[in-house]
Amino acid sequence: MKVKKLEINIEEYTDFEELPDEYKKLLKDAGEATESSYAPYSEFHVGASVLLENGVVIKGSNQENSAYPSGLCAERVALFYAKSKYPDVAVKAIAITAKSEHFVVNKPITPCGSCRQVIAETESRQDGKIKIIMAGQKSNILVVEGIESLLPLVFQEDSLKKK
Ligand code: THU
Repeated sequence: MKVKKLEINIEEYTDFEELPDEYKKLLKDAGEATESSYAPYSEFHVGASVLLENGVVIKGSNQENSAYPSGLCAERVALFYAKSKYPDVAVKAIAITAKSEHFVVNKPITPCGSCRQVIAETESRQDGKIKIIMAGQKSNILVVEGIESLLPLVFQEDSLKKK
C-alpha cells in the first residue's frame, strides 16, 4: 500500500483590487447576476458568470422551487445556458459570488458537488482548463485553475468505456 498525496494550488487574494482585470470584471458580473436570483426559500442569492472563449459572458443565478430539489444552482444555470446557446465555444472561466438578506457573506462561495461535476464535464469537452473564481460579499477571493483542484479523482466519461 502506498499513500498518494495531492497538491492543490489555490490563489488567494485579500483585496479585490489585487485581482487581474479580467477576474474583476467577471466577479462584478457575478455580483450583478445575484439580482436575478429566485431564492424565496433559502434567501441566499447566488450569482455566477461564465466567460466564453469568444468573449461572451453568460450570467446565471440560483432558481429555487417549492419542491426543493427541482431548483438549480447559479453555476449550473449559467453553464447549461452557455452550452445550449454556444455549444461549440469553450468556457474560459466562471466566477461565483452570493449575497444574503440576513448576513454578510464573509466566505468565498465554492461550488457544490453537483456543480463541480458539471464544471468537470464542461472541461472534459474542451481543450483548456476552466478558471474558477470564488468570492463572498466581504471575503478573500479564491482562484483555482481547473476543476481537478476542487474535484480530485473525478468520475469522467472515460470510465464508461469498455476497454
Ligand atoms: N447555491 C448555488 O446557487 N450555488 C452554490 O455553489 C451553492 C448553493 C444555491 C442553491 C440554493 O438555491 C441556495 O444556494 C442555498 O443552498
